[in-house]
Amino acid sequence: MLVAVDLDIHYARIQAAARAIRDRRPETPEVAVVLGSGLGDFASGLSDATSIPYGEIPHWPASAVVGHEGRLVIGRTQSRLVGALSGRVHFYEGHDLRTVTFGIRVMAFLGVRTVVLTNAAGGINTGFSRGALMVVDDHINLLGASPLMGPHDERFGPRFPDMSEVYARRLRELADEAAAAMGFPISHGVYVALHGPSYETPAEIRYLRTIGADAVGMSTVPEAIVARHMGLDVLAISCISNMAAGVLPQPLSHDEVMETTRRVRPQFRALLEGILGRL
Ligand code: HPA
Repeated sequence: MLVAVDLDIHYARIQAAARAIRDRRPETPEVAVVLGSGLGDFASGLSDATSIPYGEIPHWPASAVVGHEGRLVIGRTQSRLVGALSGRVHFYEGHDLRTVTFGIRVMAFLGVRTVVLTNAAGGINTGFSRGALMVVDDHINLLGASPLMGPHDERFGPRFPDMSEVYARRLRELADEAAAAMGFPISHGVYVALHGPSYETPAEIRYLRTIGADAVGMSTVPEAIVARHMGLDVLAISCISNMAAGVLPQPLSHDEVMETTRRVRPQFRALLEGILGRL
């Protein structure tokens, strides 16, 4: 369990990371975009870019998962300065949720006002199909933990933050506008986070559908909670990389997830750019 002195260490680590980034790129990015499994390509499209490997930012955790790069790219698109977090760490890798959300805290202290979270997720809603994009309207946290657990640090935000609109309505509408302008369909739904790393059983998927979930994944929710805790506006978009367990008569695999995100990548990138252009 955390004790008070750890709070100061955690706070100091976040400030040190923010300073190191500012030394490399002094301008304040407006938006942070977290790129999920196989979606790192957006970062390569930024112009006037500064690319910082996570290993060169003090205390920044690096992911070991295939499909996750590990770098922060600060650059421009649609005349906005964006910080793209290409690669994230997950709860299932054994990191605690403070570590999982370290990058979000750092970006908030750098001055970012908006966070766009992306992920690959399994489709629970049988109206979805593989490759669909889903705007996250709300979430269910079934991780069994919260990044806000432990002694409270007032410098980050309130002890009991409101979560009645985690994903800003205005940003969800912008996502619809951007998709409509590009002429492709976009879905909406509730994202449920489980810790994984095993995929769910068919019985678990039936349960998750019953409680109101449309898509299931192993990320995003801790980052969204921390971003709201720091008063940032949040948007999250899921790429339905596979139908969830038991929906189709076939097993799930990380290869399928990677294959779908690779296929959807150009659309996903165009959608992100369309959204950023409308902010
Ligand atoms: N379940 C959990 N996480 C996932 C899935 C899934 O089916 N697909 C991609 N991430």
